[in-house]
Amino acid sequence: MATRFELLQSELTAAPRTWLVTGAAGFIGSHLVEKLLKLEQRVIGLDNFSTGDRRNLDAVRETVVAEAWSQFRFEERDITRLEECRRAVAGVDYVLHQAALGSVPRSIEDPLRSHASNVDGFLNILVAARDARVQRFVYASSSSVYGDHPALPKKEDSVGRPLSPYAATKLFNEVYAGVFARGYGMPVIGLRYFNVFGPRQDPNGAYAAVVPRWFAALARGEPVKINGDGLTTRDFCYVANAVQANLLAATTVSRGAVGCVYNVACGVRTSLLDLHERIRALVAARLPEVAQLAPVFGPERAGDVRHSLADISLARDLLGYEPTHSLEKGLREAAGWYLRDEQVTTDAQRASRNSSAFTP
Ligand SMILES: NC(=O)c1ccc[n+]([C@@H]2O[C@H](COP(=O)([O-])OP(=O)(O)OC[C@H]3O[C@@H](n4cnc5c(N)ncnc54)[C@H](O)[C@@H]3O)[C@@H](O)[C@H]2O)c1
Repeated sequence: MATRFELLQSELTAAPRTWLVTGAAGFIGSHLVEKLLKLEQRVIGLDNFSTGDRRNLDAVRETVVAEAWSQFRFEERDITRLEECRRAVAGVDYVLHQAALGSVPRSIEDPLRSHASNVDGFLNILVAARDARVQRFVYASSSSVYGDHPALPKKEDSVGRPLSPYAATKLFNEVYAGVFARGYGMPVIGLRYFNVFGPRQDPNGAYAAVVPRWFAALARGEPVKINGDGLTTRDFCYVANAVQANLLAATTVSRGAVGCVYNVACGVRTSLLDLHERIRALVAARLPEVAQLAPVFGPERAGDVRHSLADISLARDLLGYEPTHSLEKGLREAAGWYLRDEQVTTDAQRASRNSSAFTP
């Protein structure tokens, strides 16, 4: 029997809509753009390139047919400016709001900058979407909102105290979205992503996520650095699962499903040691010399939670969400991309690339 997501894809292709993807030049945003264009949708992408990369959009262009690409319009805009948000949402059916400054350590170093994009920017795009009367506003929240709540698995209705400025910004998002749902009847849905990984996730820089960073280190023949004892656990979620959750959330017609926040993950807990072994085995298939390369252990990172595991039954029951990719399947699918030579670039190279004119 076809899944809800399979049926949805046929429905969308038969009746294309107009979507705004904020953070379109980023990792998850570029995958949303790619999937929507492949489904023959009209897509507006917004980004200010603060952490995003033009190469992500170039890569999307390479994977879609020319006719699909002609349905894409890119707008270099900053969500901290309300007027820019208003222009971007005009005529849009669905908003998939991904733009934000990710990373817990980044937010600890510069909380004001994270707040500006993640809270002020969020409120701007929310207000603009409300005034434009979009049919659905789906936004990226984070498992970090569970903070110090000890329960495992994490269920949507029990959050703890946030442990970092980043977590606080995502909690603010949920508070504002809830107020706009109740106060203005706005059709909002929040998605709490748990450690999303996949192609086009930046392996470079101080704030790189663990999966791309470890692939890149091992590909250079260097040992990976594990913060803590390696027994910290995470619920790793391949990007295709996150894309699925967004499209289901944007289009659900079930009234009870709107106004909620959902965990987006696989519902499986993996230790960092286990993750390391899996990644090392994939890299060793190409570079046999890393097969025995042991990790080095450092202190735990401030603001990190010890264990993370999602209960995904709410998304399953109300949205029809069914992850298509396990951790292993996702790692295998992404390995080819992570191990390409050109992934290892410097931050300066990226800045120079992004300053050149964008040609859609
Ligand atoms: N990747 C994960 O594991 C994960 C986990 C939980 C939540 N999230 C959330 O998912 C969303 C997407 O994350 P990602 O991993 O793709 O990160 P990313 O950094 O690759 O993408 C974010 C994009 O937003 C853009 N952006 C930032 N501030 C902006 C601004 N003021 N105006 C316009 N554009 C701006 C960046 O340039 C970037 O392209 C974010 O909201 C993030 O907080 C991600």
